[in-house]
Amino acid sequence: MKKKELRIGLIGCGFMGRTHSNAYNRVKNFFPDLEYQPKLQAVCSRNEEKVKSFADQWGYASYETDWKTLISRDDIDAVDICTPNNMHAEIAIAAAKAGKMVLCEKPIARNLEEAQLMVDEIAKANVRNTVWYNYRRLPAVTLAKKIVDSGKLGKIFHYRSNFLQDWTINENLPQGGRAFWRMDAEAAGSGVTGDLLAHCIDTAMWLNGGIMDVSAMTETFVKQRVHEDTGKLQDVKIDDACIFHCHFENGSLGLFESSRYARGHKALFTLEINGEKGSLKWDLHDLNRLEYFDNSDESIIRGWRSIHVTDGDQPYMDKWWVPGLSIGYEHSFVHQAADFLKSLESNDVCAPTFKDALETQKVCESVIDSAVDKEWKNTNVEWT
Ligand SMILES: NC(=O)c1ccc[n+]([C@@H]2O[C@H](COP(=O)([O-])OP(=O)(O)OC[C@H]3O[C@@H](n4cnc5c(N)ncnc54)[C@H](O)[C@@H]3O)[C@@H](O)[C@H]2O)c1
Repeated sequence: MKKKELRIGLIGCGFMGRTHSNAYNRVKNFFPDLEYQPKLQAVCSRNEEKVKSFADQWGYASYETDWKTLISRDDIDAVDICTPNNMHAEIAIAAAKAGKMVLCEKPIARNLEEAQLMVDEIAKANVRNTVWYNYRRLPAVTLAKKIVDSGKLGKIFHYRSNFLQDWTINENLPQGGRAFWRMDAEAAGSGVTGDLLAHCIDTAMWLNGGIMDVSAMTETFVKQRVHEDTGKLQDVKIDDACIFHCHFENGSLGLFESSRYARGHKALFTLEINGEKGSLKWDLHDLNRLEYFDNSDESIIRGWRSIHVTDGDQPYMDKWWVPGLSIGYEHSFVHQAADFLKSLESNDVCAPTFKDALETQKVCESVIDSAVDKEWKNTNVEWT
């Protein structure tokens, strides 16, 4: 069967630019049955030398140094946004208005107002869209969803999730500029809340339903850092650490923590769900494994099962190697690219959509507001 092409225009060639480019390349080899295949049509970044070399390295047919030019091109079907957060809204809205499909990195925006505007414009333009909350598509996390949905855990009482790092402890690190935009509230919107907890929140609501209200505290441990753009010592306005608890719509309690000051932890994303009949836990550092406790097991052998999620009948794994062989972080992006292509074939949405990501943004904003005002906040989340 002759394949249909989805001509990709990718903007931003840093960390995520690489994971997405890898995904588009790999999906052709490992999901050969899809009706649509991506064509790496153009990549955009501001520095010509760098973007040219990126295009050569990853196989893009052309490059641009101005994202507006990329969006105006007739030979681009889908715009993929891999830039810092402050660029997402402008690019996504312009791409939607130009009738392009929009794929966007998380968090979709710096704040709720921007996110709402993006969702409204995407709806008006009626273009296909998805947001790269990629962790949903690690096979062990997808299996967790299947187990929860099957009812095997029974009524859920607790949901717990952490995302811990330690890379900003050095007080001499600057804020802003190309390398440290995450430390600059103007570029990032928030600190760990939008950068890390957004992942925990998206996965939590996907697995356990809407988060209704939150009570949070945040801390900025280093109060001033030199700004790369001005060379001056300026106040740090992002949250370095955040802890919040919440109620889910299903009556369960949630507890979340994130920090970039958790010495020894590089990217420790964990989740645990405790239900009446069983529990699940997962850890990004051992990402192929899902721990499952089934209370209906015979008592003398009852205990936590460690499921190595690598068998052909487990999510996505029939596409890879043979049972027992692991896959990695990058495969979650390959799976999302495959699911997006599949959604074109099935004429379905590819979740999480911008609308879904807006709900995550509502929780992030409520968390920040709660920490500032020192009171519980309703999220007004509508999760279906
Ligand atoms: N899904 C995930 O697990 C995950 C992980 C990391 C980052 N992210 C998200 O991905 C996005 C990018 O993060 P990153 O780590 O790749 O950042 P990065 O700093 O590594 O890369 C950003 C890229 O955007 C380019 N850029 C900046 N302004 C631009 C402009 N005006 N025009 C064209 N290009 C421009 C930069 O040159 C750079 O190539 C962020 O929104 C971040 O939150 C998601």
